[in-house]
Amino acid sequence: MAGQTDATPWVPESRELSDLESAAHDCRGCELWQPATQVVFSSGERSARIMLVGEQPGDREDEQGEPFVGPAGRVLDEALDEAGIDRSAAYLTNAVKHFRFEQRGKRRIHQKPDVRHLSACHPWLEAELEAVAPGVVVAMGATAARAVLDRAVKIGDVRGRVLEEPARPVVVTTHPSAVLRLRGRDGYDEAFGALVEDLRLAAPYA
Ligand code: URA
Ligand code: SF4
Repeated sequence: MAGQTDATPWVPESRELSDLESAAHDCRGCELWQPATQVVFSSGERSARIMLVGEQPGDREDEQGEPFVGPAGRVLDEALDEAGIDRSAAYLTNAVKHFRFEQRGKRRIHQKPDVRHLSACHPWLEAELEAVAPGVVVAMGATAARAVLDRAVKIGDVRGRVLEEPARPVVVTTHPSAVLRLRGRDGYDEAFGALVEDLRLAAPYA
């Protein structure tokens, strides 16, 4: 779209993850870099066979510079464990690499990224997919699914099976934050179990 910028000018030619990550610290592909503490690029090795994609870093991730280190990350850890997937053998990243929030007093309230943020940040995800070339991608939540599939989907329509996408198999599942919101309420066990089942579907491709 005319006048719209994205991350492309900041993405280096190298597909070494360390080069990508250090270049991402300077990214000005959209306005989200400015209020955020730092870029949250990814965790995991180039040799990972499974790539898990979330929405965007949260408050804790923004502070620590690592994806999935906050409460949603703990739910993800438990689900990976139950699905028999070793977190350290997985590559974890987000569709958008800077935390989008609204400041309310001392609190920073998570704000969903817009489609334009997804588009702006997409060159990083493409570079990561080239670098890691995973056997399977798990997109967690509608935002991640849109970034990975390049189309809008409803989670309920596409979860529970492996999508044979042209580039590689993709499994779409719910975001661990959505599961976390049900903690202590009816429906938590079911939602957590469904996340585990989706992760199990991906495991054989990893
Ligand atoms: N939620 C996400 O989507 N990603 C993170 O890294 C943390 C929480
Ligand atoms: Fe760049 Fe993505 Fe951060 Fe926007 S959110 S500044 S595109 S790294």
